[in-house]
This record gives sequence, structure tokens and C-alpha cells, in this order.
Amino acid sequence: MAGLELRNPTMNAAGVLGISAPLLKRIYEGGAGAVVTKSLGGPQRMGHSNPTLVSVEGGALNAMGLPNPGAEYFVEMIRELKGDGVPVVASFFGGSIEEFRDVALVLSEAGVDALEVNVSCPNVAEEMGMLGADPMNTEKVTEAVKEVAKSPVIVKLSPNVTDICEIARAAERGGADAITAVNTLKGLAVDADLRRPILTNVTGGLSGPALKPVALRCVWEIYEAVEIPIIGCGGISNWRDAVEYLLSGATAVEIGTAAMDGGFDIYGKIAEGIREYLVENGFKEVKDIVGLAHGG
Ligand SMILES: Cc1cc2nc3c(=O)[nH]c(=O)nc-3n(C[C@H](O)[C@H](O)[C@H](O)COP(=O)(O)O)c2cc1C
Repeated sequence: MAGLELRNPTMNAAGVLGISAPLLKRIYEGGAGAVVTKSLGGPQRMGHSNPTLVSVEGGALNAMGLPNPGAEYFVEMIRELKGDGVPVVASFFGGSIEEFRDVALVLSEAGVDALEVNVSCPNVAEEMGMLGADPMNTEKVTEAVKEVAKSPVIVKLSPNVTDICEIARAAERGGADAITAVNTLKGLAVDADLRRPILTNVTGGLSGPALKPVALRCVWEIYEAVEIPIIGCGGISNWRDAVEYLLSGATAVEIGTAAMDGGFDIYGKIAEGIREYLVENGFKEVKDIVGLAHGG
């Protein structure tokens, strides 16, 4: 996909379970085609104080605030994973276009297989998170990252926009090799007894099954708007969900919240389910079913 070779079309979604080299390695051993790092920034960040994660009907609401040890610190972990033969996608963010470029350079030189540009976190200051709500900013960031990238550049989009196709087209114009759709959907949880919002950040990002119809719609629309491949993400819990994403236009999928309950083996189980679906329905490879639900 976009020059990234995957043994199967599953990956972990950034920031869920895989926050260190040993955990990312377990995700790969659990069957993922490649692993995605927690979003990394320039300087280290503490993130928001707890509570940062709450279970809600149909999923979870989180406002971690992009806690991370900084890209430089993670370089050693990337090299360790690469040494073990694990394909690594580095997710990252910046506080400005220059910082996006600088962090991309550090991660690129560490030898990652692809870069996933997070312009879509709903839980931090706009310049670090929802930069991707604006087409011009999305295009500029993508261009800046492409200038220094030595591997494919994937831009991860937010569902918290009026027209996700406009943003996807901007990423494509900026030179993106692929798009991940989507990050979490902004939401709120209130405690009736405490009469207060549950998360310290007040609002958070909705993930899990409740996000799936929205994310699937995003993939569907983006597939009709751009030529570059799409990685579907949002509420995938089993192989059937993953197949629905492929049929809607995704070439690969990322699984996050479901791994909190399903554990590290979920990637292998979903990859095997996709394989069996292909065999049982007479298809040779994943690309035979990408976008098939669009007909024509
Ligand atoms: C606890 C938690 C932390 C997350 N951290 C990140 C992150 O660092 N970078 C990012 O791009 N997305 C992050 N996300 C969003 C996920 O990567 C994914 O886009 C979203 O959860 C939807 O997929 P899911 O329903 O399979 O979890 C996070 C999600 C959760 C639940």
C-alpha cells in the first residue's frame, strides 16, 4: 500500500496499547501487518491529568493530550523494532509547520517504513491537533513533511469537519501517499452524581463501535474524492467490520479500542478472517475487494 509492504492489511491505531517498543513488538507478534507508534512530538509532553479515559456506551472517550517522550527519545525504540524485523509507521505531530517538518526528519532518519501525520487530534491546542480542519494548513503541512520524508507519508484525518473530502484532496495536493480515516469524534461525558464532566479536559474523542458508521462514511466519501489509498480506522472489532471498510474503499485497516478488550491477538484474528472471506468468496487478494461496494 503506497509503497509500504504489509504481510496483511491490519495495523494498530496510534496511541492504543502500542506506546513502547516491547508493546509494539507484541502487537506485531499478535499478527499485525505493521505497527503504528503513539503520536510523537518534538519535545516530551506530559499530556492531560487523569481522568483521561472513560468507557461510554459503544466505546470510549479519551483526552490523553498527546503525552509522549519526544521523537528523539523514541529513535532507539524504532531502531530496536526495525532490528527485530518489525515494519514501523511513525505517527507524529507538531506545534507548527516547521515542527512537523523537524519531527518528520528525525523519524525518517531513524528508518521508519512510513510516517503518519496526525493533524487530527481533537484534545489539544488547535495548532497541534485540529490543524487538519483547514485545507490550506493540511496541504502546507503535508508538503513540508514530504520535503524531508524518505518513506511514504500518510495523513490522518479528523471526522470533526464539515467536508472531509475537501481535507483529503488538500492532503493529496500536498503530496500525501495515503490517508488514514479517521481519528476520534469529539464528545462529552458528564457524571450525574458529581454534576461535572468526567474528563479533566472536559471534552474527549469518541472511539470504538459507536464511531464505526461515521468513520465508514468518511472512507466511502474519501474513496470517491481522491486517487491515493485509504487506511480505514474507527470501531473495527472483528474481521467483518474490516471487510466492510475494504469494500467501502480502504486498502488497509487500523484497530484501536477493540484491542483494549480483545488483546494483542486481535490483529492476527482479523487478518485471518479477511483471508478466509477472500478464499470463501473466490477473491485472490485484498485489492480485489477494495471499493467493491461502490459498484460500477
Ligand atoms: C487511548 C487512545 C489514545 C489515542 N492516541 C492517539 C494518538 O496518539 N495519535 C492518533 O493519531 N490517534 C490516537 N488515538 C485515536 C486512534 O488512533 C483511532 O484513530 C481511534 O481510536 C479510532 O479507532 P478505534 O475505534 O479502533 O479505537 C487514540 C485513541 C485512544 C482511544
